[in-house]
Amino acid sequence: MSEDARLVVVSNRVAVPKARGAAGAQGGLAGALNAALKDRSGVWFGWSGEETEEHSGEIATQTTDGVTTATIDLSKRDVDEYYNGYANSTLWPLFHYRLDLAEYERETGKGYERVNERFAETLHPLIEEDDIVWVHDYHLIPLGERLRSRGVKNRIGFFLHIPWPPTRLFVSLPYHERLVRTMLHYDLLGFQTQEWLDSFLHYCRTELGAEVDDGTGSVTLDGWTTIARAYPIGIDWDHFTGLANTGDARQAEQRLLSSTRRRTAMIGVDRLDYSKGLPERLDGISRFFDRFPQRVRDLVFIQIAPPSREDVESYQQIRTLLEQKAGQINGARSEVDLVPVRYVNRGYSHAELFGFFRAAKIGLVTPLRDGMNLVAKEYLAAQDPEDPGVLILSRFAGAAAQMQDALLVNPHSPDDLSHAIATALDMPLEERRRRYDALISTVRDDNVQDWTNNFLRDLDAR
Ligand code: F6P
Repeated sequence: MSEDARLVVVSNRVAVPKARGAAGAQGGLAGALNAALKDRSGVWFGWSGEETEEHSGEIATQTTDGVTTATIDLSKRDVDEYYNGYANSTLWPLFHYRLDLAEYERETGKGYERVNERFAETLHPLIEEDDIVWVHDYHLIPLGERLRSRGVKNRIGFFLHIPWPPTRLFVSLPYHERLVRTMLHYDLLGFQTQEWLDSFLHYCRTELGAEVDDGTGSVTLDGWTTIARAYPIGIDWDHFTGLANTGDARQAEQRLLSSTRRRTAMIGVDRLDYSKGLPERLDGISRFFDRFPQRVRDLVFIQIAPPSREDVESYQQIRTLLEQKAGQINGARSEVDLVPVRYVNRGYSHAELFGFFRAAKIGLVTPLRDGMNLVAKEYLAAQDPEDPGVLILSRFAGAAAQMQDALLVNPHSPDDLSHAIATALDMPLEERRRRYDALISTVRDDNVQDWTNNFLRDLDAR
């Protein structure tokens, strides 16, 4: 990237950087983007997360540590139609292969286009001639095309953090062609894995009749050419592993160890989202205890599941279902001195999660579908190399492509899950070490800084 090119990052949510030395630390992606923005004195633009009666178009800016954030409020109607509606009730379920949950409503589709137009309108005056613009995720697919229609000629890249569904599913989306055509106005498109990239290229070739070169990822249609590639995202290794010696991490580790005593702790950490396979996970655990009832004295499962997107009905339903399932297992298997499932509806800091991961000898990461899944990588990063825990990982998480030495499972199968739990529980140290050693280099080396640099290098070269 040329020295003086500023970077403009655009995403639905904006992580406002903490002042240097302020308490608390931000997560991997936010940290990496802030670092890239600091290097290039850029701007991070997005929704403030606030709802107002009417859309005002006012931009609130804040500069901390050399990074400027610029945010806009959205009206209640915009949030309902764009965020709760089209983004999270249409695109999110469809892109996670959940046609059964996808809602196709004309009004929310219009709201999505309206908010993308609002983003373009407010962002346009902030873009300077040599800026590089990087748009993130499914909320903002048409933004690049909206900027182009206003005469923006800058390099613009787009990264999709979630899966891209197979063509057969994707064509169920009304106006699918219109949506994908907008993507060809970007200079560079990034996907998490080769599988999602292949699905996208397949769609462009078969449904749009675009000229597609699988080798280079170039897609050409009506005079527009974009390049589509896979850039698997990673964790902020230095930051995350640096938490090991914090008081919060150590305390969290001790807290978990002392409360589980002689039992093996198995942990899951997920937003409360149906794509994460939480009810299916509990079914697998229930099957394990059915099969090995005496092992209730060996294993305790801790599920941390902070609520998410609570205004969307499917998210309310998943919460109720999980409470029932956790309650059923505990009702059937608890003893006066032990409860097999601890289900916690709140979030924890990164440092505390580090400590919990370190204390848990099994990490259970079993989404039904996931763009990547960084919990799998963080779980491994927190392990003691001399005595590492076992990662059980869904073969349908993007992370599985890089992590073939995890215990890979089909998250839909209670038998498969139950079998993997038994295997993990009894796995000898030698095999745990072998698997850990085989996995840890990709977690360490293919990190989030690498991801940012690779994407921006390719965007710069366009
Ligand atoms: O890609 C999915 C994603 O945008 C993640 O980056 C993020 O962790 C999560 O969804 C947050 O969801 P929301 O902004 O809807 O709370």
